[in-house]
Amino acid sequence: MLDERPMVAEPERPVRLPAGPCRGTVLFRSVTFGYRPDAPILAGLELTVPAGQTVALIGSTGAGKSTVAKLLARFHDPASGTVSLDGVDLRDLADAELRRAIVLVTQENHLFRGSVAENIRFRRPDADDAAVEAAARAIGAHDFIAALPDGYATDVHRRGGRLSAGQRQLVAFARAFLADPRVLILDEATSSLDVPTERLVQRALRSVLRDRTALVIAHRLSTVETADRVLVLDGGRIVEDGSPAELAASGGRYAALHRRWRDSLI
Ligand SMILES: Nc1ncnc2c1ncn2[C@@H]1O[C@H](COP(=O)(O)OP(=O)(O)OP(=O)(O)O)[C@@H](O)[C@H]1O
Ligand SMILES: [Mg+2]
Repeated sequence: MLDERPMVAEPERPVRLPAGPCRGTVLFRSVTFGYRPDAPILAGLELTVPAGQTVALIGSTGAGKSTVAKLLARFHDPASGTVSLDGVDLRDLADAELRRAIVLVTQENHLFRGSVAENIRFRRPDADDAAVEAAARAIGAHDFIAALPDGYATDVHRRGGRLSAGQRQLVAFARAFLADPRVLILDEATSSLDVPTERLVQRALRSVLRDRTALVIAHRLSTVETADRVLVLDGGRIVEDGSPAELAASGGRYAALHRRWRDSLI
């Protein structure tokens, strides 16, 4: 279900992504898109994300944040314009390569069925136990997993294996870390976590974002503040674009949101 892309066709002659250290440059060029032809959501979106940058995408409900995420993961194709990765139009990539290169983590797909290890291995079925554990350790999830009734073999839906919201996010991050995509897109959970779990999740997030391009639909101030760049989306358009510090000082939308977030912190 996670990887289903019902609306898009696989290319007849796929293009390979260029190899090399400089990976993860994302371009949106004049991207127009709507779920219905008479109701455009994006109208000529322009966006350049250099390789390795972490971008926080914010904006009110219905602004188009998840739509941008879904176009970047090629759940849909633009009506006009192009979305490209490292110079290759997403429409020219074979599905398998696209799935390896761009991973979308949403609130819904955090956990499937099966064991914790199977969940971490989901996008890299060939990964051995050592690689699974290394990913969990990198994320800071190893200790809680080791303390589960059957450790990595614990069934996530069986009694005793039920994980907390924060633990599920950690497992999802371990899965993304093991997959090692060029681009990670994260639709951050809105549910609030307790303070120690929140710290763990934020630390895990930094590990999974390091050295890769990331687009994070952020609902937490702590996430936005760790981003290199913030985009404020409104009605399918980018209305503010800058570093968190620049935008906080600018007196615009982000500044107002930032103040509200600040005030709500205890
Ligand atoms: N599958 C769909 N079919 C039709 N319209 C849709 C679909 N998904 C989203 N929309 C519409 O597109 C617009 C943008 O939605 P989108 O999900 O991108 O917003 P968002 O910024 O992610 O909002 P939220 O913060 O609530 O998640 C909204 O008007 C929404 O109603
Ligand atoms: Mg959304």
